[in-house]
Amino acid sequence: MSKLVFILPDGTAQTVAAIPDTSAMRHAVDNGLPLDADCGGECMCATCHVHVDPGWFNKLEPAEEQEADMLGVVDDPSPTSRLSCRILMTEKLDGLVLRLPPTHR
Ligand code: FES
Repeated sequence: MSKLVFILPDGTAQTVAAIPDTSAMRHAVDNGLPLDADCGGECMCATCHVHVDPGWFNKLEPAEEQEADMLGVVDDPSPTSRLSCRILMTEKLDGLVLRLPPTHR
């Protein structure tokens, strides 16, 4: 089974089983990780912001316009910022590493 790795703000790693065609945000919320996802995955709140591990960033589909706009207003932006509700898990993303910025405590 594919997996997805979240690095929490305190540096600890949590690995979860990845469900195909399910967003990374849904994996975080369903596993009790500190990620608000206030809009429920509608790309309207940016509270699901994550930093993608640099080695994985270019393996993701590019951000669409609405996501790119939302990324302009996040706290703790980075060159690898993405909204986790826009990242759908696929087999090619097995082992994907996402870091929760310090705002997620
Ligand atoms: Fe709101 Fe991702 S959950 S933008």
